[in-house]
Amino acid sequence: MEVVIVEKPEEIGRVVADAVAGVLASRARPTLGLATGSSPLPVYQELIRRHREEGLSFQAASAFLLDEYLGLDAAHPELYRTFAERSFVGQVDFEQGRLFGPDVHAKRADVSCKEYEAQIAAAGGIDLQLLGIGSDGHIGFNEPSSSLGSRTRIKTLTRATRCDNARFFGGQIEAVPRHVITMGIGTILEARHLVLIAMGEGKATCLAEAVEGPLTAMVPASALQLHPHATIVADEAAAHKLKLLDYYKETYREKPDWQGC
Ligand code: GLP
Repeated sequence: MEVVIVEKPEEIGRVVADAVAGVLASRARPTLGLATGSSPLPVYQELIRRHREEGLSFQAASAFLLDEYLGLDAAHPELYRTFAERSFVGQVDFEQGRLFGPDVHAKRADVSCKEYEAQIAAAGGIDLQLLGIGSDGHIGFNEPSSSLGSRTRIKTLTRATRCDNARFFGGQIEAVPRHVITMGIGTILEARHLVLIAMGEGKATCLAEAVEGPLTAMVPASALQLHPHATIVADEAAAHKLKLLDYYKETYREKPDWQGC
């Protein structure tokens, strides 16, 4: 696992955008897994900037949503599909119909989950999966106690996550959907490169548990310890509880060019 600690959000954008640009340049049909929430925003902003100013193109790429609220009104601004279109996909040159997500309005949501897995497989799997981390250590919407081998499925949100996300629903916890569809931890682990972004003091404990604690379903993000190519990009506030902080900084500072992103 590589841990990159940066001083400013713009640096998060630069580091992760470099990895995304590498995927776009090296794959004929690149596939990106998109996360929502505030953590990936610096990345999306930097990718939009590179698209506008440097011609970075997403024309051959497909994007897959990490998770989605089950049954949330199609017109609701917090539907993750709408969020992804608004904050990234709609601002660059993805081809129409290349943003995929589970169908959260189908009669049989369990079937939607299976179909979504099949769509990811048909696209050749995901090259780079962006992740945030919930304050309880969740990735996607895989709440603590999620099976480390889980696949895309319906989950019930914890009260803590609904509280965290109430800020997007006018501060009303009751307005936050109780159920979601999320890629499973097993699904996420199949992506070829995982990039988890953590910003702010509120993520310090869960990040330390995920990176340096035991592998446990109680901290779903600890599953990244199993992945052969996982990158954590964190600001100082989120990183300060890491025991090997100085080691991570030195390792990144001295990183040889041949190692790549
Ligand atoms: C939600 C999303 C997660 C995200 C998390 C953290 O629960 N389902 O994918 O990682 O929020 O969000 P933020 O980045 O805003 O802290």
